[in-house]
Amino acid sequence: MNQHSQQLEKPPELERGTTERFSSKGFIVAAIGSAVGLGNMWKFPYITGENGGAAFFLVFIICLLLVGLPVLMAELTVGRGGRGSASGSLVRLSGKPFWGRFGFITIVGAFAILSFYSVVAGWTIHYAVLSFSGQLFHDADYAARFGEFIGGWWPVLWQAIVMLLTGFVVAKGIASGIERFNKILIPAMVVLLVVLMIRGVTLEGASEGVAFFLRPDFSSLTPQAFLIALGHAFFSLSLGMGTMLTYGAYVDRRQSLGAATFAIGLGDLLYALLAGLIIFPTTFAFGIAPDQGPGLLFVALPAAFDAMPLGSLFAGLFFVIVAIAAVTSAVSLLEVPVTYLIERKRWSRVKAATIVTISCLAVGFPSAVSVGGTLPGLEWQGKTFFDWVDFITSNIVLPVGGLVVTLFVGYAWKRAADEAGLTGWWLRIWLAALRYVAPILIVLIFLHSSGLLKL
Ligand code: PHE
Repeated sequence: MNQHSQQLEKPPELERGTTERFSSKGFIVAAIGSAVGLGNMWKFPYITGENGGAAFFLVFIICLLLVGLPVLMAELTVGRGGRGSASGSLVRLSGKPFWGRFGFITIVGAFAILSFYSVVAGWTIHYAVLSFSGQLFHDADYAARFGEFIGGWWPVLWQAIVMLLTGFVVAKGIASGIERFNKILIPAMVVLLVVLMIRGVTLEGASEGVAFFLRPDFSSLTPQAFLIALGHAFFSLSLGMGTMLTYGAYVDRRQSLGAATFAIGLGDLLYALLAGLIIFPTTFAFGIAPDQGPGLLFVALPAAFDAMPLGSLFAGLFFVIVAIAAVTSAVSLLEVPVTYLIERKRWSRVKAATIVTISCLAVGFPSAVSVGGTLPGLEWQGKTFFDWVDFITSNIVLPVGGLVVTLFVGYAWKRAADEAGLTGWWLRIWLAALRYVAPILIVLIFLHSSGLLKL
């Protein structure tokens, strides 16, 4: 197809844009809901504790400022300018299907992340229920208990519940579904986090945990730590997966994208900080070594809460927080393919949400039953099906998706500045970050996280 006939046969996404809109506060809250997720609740605290405490925290803030916020702003700007899906907006703004194809990769990526993210979200709900009902406690071996749980069939049911809830919220629409859901849960989450943080830091021996989390240790700041911070800044802000771009398509013209970007970054940081101030004081106060990954949430923390008066209540609250964080992120992931299908196939929102929810459950099933070995054989080269989907999406699709938006706004889309509403120094800094700093650092993240660059 040559350039001329392409212009005659406009793809459907060039004809219409989104019509639903977030309210101004609703958008910020929904975007914070997307950003704050499992990444904040267990990955951030742990990598901070491991890589130099407050020194790492400082590096993380620098990564947010240098790459995270500029790319976040770029995604929001493309979304609002294009008023379409993560693929359609790029086509609309550039007039070239070429960019849309890259955008499409992020849509598949969001779907794939959701297929295993919903599995872990399901685990957290299961643990919340177990804690409140008192069944989680008086158990000597939490590691065995966790292994037994993920090796059984319960995770499949919990994943289905998470996906049904997520699908329901997305089917209700931007304002009366996603916005309303986040407006209730995100403030509720802060209240619960503060309650648990006060409980954590007032425990006897808590200061050791605070020290582990935040004591600055500049000698641990290796190049490796820098790349971990960089990769995490990306994941934590939900970048590279079309989520912020898709939410951007529903943002009101009058909203200041610069102010929104700062608010989302700050929100993301605060929730991560609060999570760390719960996890480490609580585990250290009871002499339990903080574990890495799932072990931290599902083995070390239950053991610590077990030793605390009213532990089942506090543990239940903690898992409710993590579940809220996970489901509000899942909602933003589901919206990515749903917006695409509404645009491309002209399906109703309800139809798109239903079909994607069911497909995601089907694709997520092997993840749910491979990670704990429920069904054996779903493994290849020492990684389960779950691990592979996680590895490919988080380490390959995410940086590629981020790079596409960065290069698009930095080099290809000439009117980006008008849509972003930036002028003067802010504009110069933003464009310099997108043209020179972010692409180099994203390529580094990619080389590091895909295993091509070993430090
Ligand atoms: N930001 C989310 C977290 O910290 C994860 C996420 C990544 C959500 C990409 C959407 C898109 O857990």
